[in-house]
Amino acid sequence: MICYQQSRTKDLAGEDKIEDKMLKTIVATFVASYILTSAVMAADNAPHVAAKSPIEAGRYLVMVSGCHDCHTPGWLFMPGKIPESEWLTGVPIGWNGPWGTSYARNLRRSVAKYTLTQWIQLIKSRTLLPPMPAENLKDMSDEDFQAIYAYIKSLGLKGDDPPANLPPGVTPPTPYINMMPVGMEMPHGKGPDTHGGH
Ligand code: HEC
Repeated sequence: MICYQQSRTKDLAGEDKIEDKMLKTIVATFVASYILTSAVMAADNAPHVAAKSPIEAGRYLVMVSGCHDCHTPGWLFMPGKIPESEWLTGVPIGWNGPWGTSYARNLRRSVAKYTLTQWIQLIKSRTLLPPMPAENLKDMSDEDFQAIYAYIKSLGLKGDDPPANLPPGVTPPTPYINMMPVGMEMPHGKGPDTHGGH
């Protein structure tokens, strides 16, 4: 800026030239940043959804990957009938199984609480209890996660968080869905800690 003013006082007639020079610098900066961005994007070959904006991609991903089934109140019983204003606000109905009781959290609070990186790590860490499909989601690309995060953030904060999870053997004080396997031995494989089951 100082440079621009100095040359301007020196040579008023050269104003056009100076503007031309500035324009060239601006164009060059844009071109450079475009090349840099494309290079970064080309390096990330992970599959991801194409849409007009990350928010649009996120809305689509949330819809087709089933997040509403568990995280949107009423969706399980009235799929597609819940207004967008209520989406992903969490459900105070417990999922009761060998892991105890888990509650599908309020994702609009979740994205406010965690940075994007922390949020992705949380889902990929596989520490989340069933029936959260963390095992499937660990393979989602970071770009798609970023889109989901951006979309949920765009919805804004709403509603309380459902109650805290409960350990096995505790009868939930809230309504709950019984996911206890019937008529079979529990396999003792890897996966979420079942705390020995019931
Ligand atoms: C079948 C039910 C189910 C589906 C489908 C589901 N979730 Fe979950 N989700 C849960 C439950 C239950 C928890 C609580 C797990 C826990 O507390 O360990 C949870 C927890 C989470 C959390 C942790 C939130 C926090 O702040 O602790 C995130 C993030 C999340 N889900 C995102 C998603 C997204 C995104 C989708 C869709 C791609 C999705 N979930 C689909 C049931 C589900």
